[in-house]
Amino acid sequence: MKSTIHIDLGRTLGAIDRNLFGGFAEHLGRCIYGGLYDPESPRADARGFRTDVLAALRRLRMPVLRYPGGNFVSGYRWRDGVGPRDARPARLDLAWHDVEPNAFGTNEFVQVCREIGAEPYLAVNCGDGDMREARDWVEYCNGTEPTALVKLRQSHGFEAPHRVIYWGIGNEVDGPWQIGAKTPEEYARAFTEFGKAMKWVDGSIKLLASATSFWDPSFVERGQLLLEQASDLVDYMAIHWYVGNRENDFNRYMALSEFFEQRLRAYEGLISAMRLARNIQRPIPIAVDEWNVWYRSDNENKLEEVYNLEDALVVAMQLNAFIRHASTVKMANLAQIVNVIAPVVTNREGLFLQTIYHPFELYSRLCGNTSLDLYSDGDTFDGGSSAGVPVLDVAGSLDAARSQVALFVVNRTQDAETDVELRLASGQFTGPVQVTEVNGPDIKAANSFDEPDLVKALPTRTLPVGPDGPVVHLTLAPHSVTVITSRVA
Ligand code: AHR
Repeated sequence: MKSTIHIDLGRTLGAIDRNLFGGFAEHLGRCIYGGLYDPESPRADARGFRTDVLAALRRLRMPVLRYPGGNFVSGYRWRDGVGPRDARPARLDLAWHDVEPNAFGTNEFVQVCREIGAEPYLAVNCGDGDMREARDWVEYCNGTEPTALVKLRQSHGFEAPHRVIYWGIGNEVDGPWQIGAKTPEEYARAFTEFGKAMKWVDGSIKLLASATSFWDPSFVERGQLLLEQASDLVDYMAIHWYVGNRENDFNRYMALSEFFEQRLRAYEGLISAMRLARNIQRPIPIAVDEWNVWYRSDNENKLEEVYNLEDALVVAMQLNAFIRHASTVKMANLAQIVNVIAPVVTNREGLFLQTIYHPFELYSRLCGNTSLDLYSDGDTFDGGSSAGVPVLDVAGSLDAARSQVALFVVNRTQDAETDVELRLASGQFTGPVQVTEVNGPDIKAANSFDEPDLVKALPTRTLPVGPDGPVVHLTLAPHSVTVITSRVA
């Protein structure tokens, strides 16, 4: 296989928001209890937080973390999770048919965020909760006046406000599986009233509207009504998706890049049309605030998905799509972070890193601040209903201050290597050209406690910068994710 990636440093697609590398933690299975929080573990600190999990998450450099759900939030009472632990009530969790002990709540979550350098993003209950509860939560977290709720927070040991910037109103309200699911009209109205009251408590917060997750035909009307009625309150239109390889068809799975493009383009178009129709001056970005591979596990095994190498390629392809759409996608949250459809898996004594951890870690570490409009030509493949899909899925970034490019390349072949030419339209690579590849023995290889490093990031190699400065040649291994960085002049 052969391919050329054309890089024109003057052709950029917009600023890359660091929040593309966000995460999501839900009260579900072993994400919180046994994941982030496990006082019985020898790896727990005095607060019960898993120090090894926090260290693994720090390496992912997630700038924002969404919580507490997910479906869970549509039956959650935040007051149950604050104050003295022995007085916190256990409640039925109807989303995941479990008992929620409430030993971990808002203040523990904010502490975890501060430990890993993430901004907290709280989703309020717009299922069986009301706007009073939602605006009280904003006041409890962010209030500075000597009100009862601020004094309550202070009596819980948190003198200073948490300054939570990001607030979502509801979760997947379009899904019949949701407690308190809403029609497009009901949600547009609820969002407006919740949002108004929440912003009156703290005008500096940013609101995320639960725009679409089900992708039934009403997604158009949902977006339309939200932007007709509340464009001055919506700071992000939040969309969700999960993908998988149920057919066990590698080519079809690899062609999902077309599906990501289709959804992002459609949603961008919807927002653009509404801005034009309603003369909305402010840009309204997209937050893909739940995304991942998820198709094998369910509530029976509490979503403990085991990821293989091909899933890691698809995770990289989703990150590539977000980078390519950086002008409109300003937040994305990998769902989730620990044990539940997650890059990190724990037992009481330790953890291992799933395949999907590795591309995420590399991308988050090496991505620059401006998206490059790359063009690649070369061999193609057919997958599912898509024909002529380029073998390489590519995205790129430029960090102008450091004159550094980063190229993110997924080689979607099962057996063949791909010879790649990186060609700068002008200027030259000044090196060092550093190449880091995520790979494993075969597309079905998965990590485990017994074999934690079957799929991993291989040691970074440095390529010589040839005499022909604008061109670099390299060979990509089959089924690989590769990040290439170089200074350019
Ligand atoms: O992340 C798991 C679940 O997926 C979330 O609770 C829900 O929002 C989505 O359907």
